[in-house]
Amino acid sequence: MTPAGLARYETTLAGLERKGRRRELMAQGGVDFSSNDYLAFAGSTRLAAAVTAALQRGTPVGAGGSRLLRGNHPEHVALEDEAAAFFGAERVLYFGSGYAANAALFSTLPQRGDIIVYDALVHASAHEGIQASRAQAVAAAHNDVEAFARAIEQWRNDGGIGHPWIAVESLYSMDGDRAPVPELAALAERHDGFLVIDEAHATGVYGPGGRGFAAGLENRANVIVLHTCGKALGVSGALLGASAVLCDYLVNRARGFIYSTAPSPLMAAAVREALRMLVDEPQRRTDFDTLRAFANAELAAKIGVEGSGSQILPVLIGDNGRAVRIAARMREEGFDIRAIRPPTVPEGTARLRIAITLNVDSQTITRTFTRLAAIMAEEKP
Ligand SMILES: Cc1ncc(COP(=O)(O)O)c(C=O)c1O
Repeated sequence: MTPAGLARYETTLAGLERKGRRRELMAQGGVDFSSNDYLAFAGSTRLAAAVTAALQRGTPVGAGGSRLLRGNHPEHVALEDEAAAFFGAERVLYFGSGYAANAALFSTLPQRGDIIVYDALVHASAHEGIQASRAQAVAAAHNDVEAFARAIEQWRNDGGIGHPWIAVESLYSMDGDRAPVPELAALAERHDGFLVIDEAHATGVYGPGGRGFAAGLENRANVIVLHTCGKALGVSGALLGASAVLCDYLVNRARGFIYSTAPSPLMAAAVREALRMLVDEPQRRTDFDTLRAFANAELAAKIGVEGSGSQILPVLIGDNGRAVRIAARMREEGFDIRAIRPPTVPEGTARLRIAITLNVDSQTITRTFTRLAAIMAEEKP
């Protein structure tokens, strides 16, 4: 390799540095204001015990192959059956990650001649699948049901003959606001279309028993719901709920499902336990609701920023450098707050993304927001 072969990568990294957009891996540390471990399941003794018990009954660490070959372990199957019953879906498929599930579903299910109308703020993993799809795709203004409707009508007027696909998150990962799910479901019905709802940040914490905002819609043939397991469930992977025929189609056609080693059966056992914890430990959700409401009120009181209402509290900074400086100073003082910059969020909207989890208590929230207000005032725009 000539030095020039690597120099181009260094040039790009230097460019990112100049724009305040270079990222680096940082050691974990400080009070948790940046994980998605909303119910503090990840470090729970119950999940650890479930994995130990699974090991003791002979569950292998590795699946040893893809699901279609030797890797289809009874733990995967039991998880999928239990998750289907829990969420009220006809069938559920377990993927190794939410990213893989979104990439698989959008690249596989919408067909040539269909249109995907996606919310302007959907996650990178949905974009990954949409880019690979044979269907055409268009963005709709964030949470604007009329914009979704207009895009579908325009496509029909232009001769679109397939089915429309509406792609949204029920709770947006960087803004913490909710999608108008019932209105979008009605729109999908009206246009003989499909609705894909990514519940990544809602699963476990919202809806009846933590079933998410799409609870009650999951048995519809035209609704596909993604429950990621790495956030409130504290484990990893993703449960995709859909009609049996769509799941069967994915098993036959989704390259990311077919040509990939199955997730660890131990992880499937842990996800099964996480679902049982949602049922057995409702107090966690009650505590979470109280803490979330408290954090929203404190954000307004101490920082003068209106909260999203949810556990994801964006504090808009705008300038990349200032966002990075404020976050770094907070971390120096032991508060793990991260700056989120473009391209993860739109240009000019760099922000601190404060996530509220049961890993913190109310006094810590007050202390943190008080310090944040002072540091924000010192770090002038
Ligand atoms: C909305 C949304 N969808 C999908 C994903 C991907 O899920 P996973 O972390 O399991 O790959 C994330 C995680 O960042 C997310 O926020």
